[in-house]
Amino acid sequence: AVVSVQQALSGAIAPGEKVTVRGWVRTRRDSKAGLSFVNLSDGSCFAPIQVVAPASLHNYESEIRHLGSGCAVIATGMLVPSQGQGQSFELQAEAIEVVGWVDDPETYPIQPKPHSLEFLREVAHLRPRTNLFGAITRIRHCLAQAVHRFFHERGFYWINTPIITTSDAEGAGQMFRVSTLDLANLPRRKDGSVDFSRDFFGKEAFLTVSGQLNVEAYCLALSKVYTFGPTFRAENSHTTRHLAEFWMIEPEIAFADLDEDARLAEDFLKYLFRAVLEERGDDMAFIAERVQKDAISRLQAFVDAPFERLDYGEAVELLQKSGEKFEFPVEWGLDLQTEHERWLTEKHVGRPVVVTNYPEQIKAFYMRLNDDGRTVAAMDVLAPGIGEIIGGSQREERLEVLDRRMAQFGLDPVQYDWYRDFRRYGTVPHAGFGLGFERLVVYVCGLTNIRDAIPYPRAPGLATF
Ligand code: 4AD
Ligand code: MG
Repeated sequence: AVVSVQQALSGAIAPGEKVTVRGWVRTRRDSKAGLSFVNLSDGSCFAPIQVVAPASLHNYESEIRHLGSGCAVIATGMLVPSQGQGQSFELQAEAIEVVGWVDDPETYPIQPKPHSLEFLREVAHLRPRTNLFGAITRIRHCLAQAVHRFFHERGFYWINTPIITTSDAEGAGQMFRVSTLDLANLPRRKDGSVDFSRDFFGKEAFLTVSGQLNVEAYCLALSKVYTFGPTFRAENSHTTRHLAEFWMIEPEIAFADLDEDARLAEDFLKYLFRAVLEERGDDMAFIAERVQKDAISRLQAFVDAPFERLDYGEAVELLQKSGEKFEFPVEWGLDLQTEHERWLTEKHVGRPVVVTNYPEQIKAFYMRLNDDGRTVAAMDVLAPGIGEIIGGSQREERLEVLDRRMAQFGLDPVQYDWYRDFRRYGTVPHAGFGLGFERLVVYVCGLTNIRDAIPYPRAPGLATF
């Protein structure tokens, strides 16, 4: 039977049984006793399987002794308990068929040694073959599965919100335009402006920055919903925390306030980390060995610690009294920068922090105005080592207040009329948040650059393959 390496090593197959495994060579070592040991990986789990190739194989001299990193092979033989340290079974090969050679082993970019992450970003199409990117990929998958499981278990419905949209969900003007117009020959109105009525959709269209406004529509009918999909931001930031294309998870709950929203965020993150600890011990052990020593204990601590709650006003006072020399100013009314967020969660509290009630002028138009008239029911969840990982809020459910906020942000109420409908027809308090999926992967894998958390990173000046 053809089995995956994961199945072969799992103990689920009776020793002595004949199996076939297929994969790519990691390393080959020849022993003096006329045997070769070929480490074979198929990506199904962290560990490769050791294939023992005896000299009696018909292609031993002609092929096996030329195998190197990256060659594709199919090996058939007996699965036997391994004497070697750190692995359960090995395959005693009766046949090894070489399916694909590596053209020029000397220049093959993925050599069996640690590579720098900078170098691997340049060969993003080959980096999945490394131990590290195999581990990140399986952890990312585990997290995505856990996201859907968490919401499914709690009675949430998954809503597929559009990728092409005409609404700026954040009102921040960071959208990529989607157009089929000929740039060299744009249709113009009399006043010289581009006539988008002649474009594909009959109006200006963009890639979405967030599915939130669209998911609110479903929340106000199905009560508990979430989106999980790609989002796009033309943010010209060359940081290690921003991508132009990233995935976001956005739950939205009806008849709920900010407090319930914060509790959902805490339960959610803990559930995700528990899933990784339970399901990806092999990959996390590697992360702990190679990337970040305390990778596992850090996740465990996150799961065990109750999140701290801090009012934005309190946070500003704490930062001002900290005696710390920050690069950016700290003042009531200014947004918190990553350095401030990290001080709060790392130096001050030592565990995740939910900062609530930000000044209304620095947060999005849809956030609910508090009774003080100068703050909104917003929350950011800050994690040690990274800063903001979740942003959320209770939504403004009062039409007249929403209209005032939109006017203040210079947004055209006609454009958002469909969104205003929810406040006209059976409006209720509701709340939600957005978790940046790659920020989550960065955190779990102890990465320092978000470009390593997604298979094909997109950032200013970077869109290869
Ligand atoms: O704080 P943000 O902008 O909030 C929203 O988009 C709301 N609509 C969410 C909601 O309430 N439904 O983004 C949410 C999260 C951030 O906390 C961050 O983790 C991530 O999305 N994020 C990014 N991740 C990678 N690259 C970027 N450029 C990101 N911008 C935001
Ligand atoms: Mg935010």
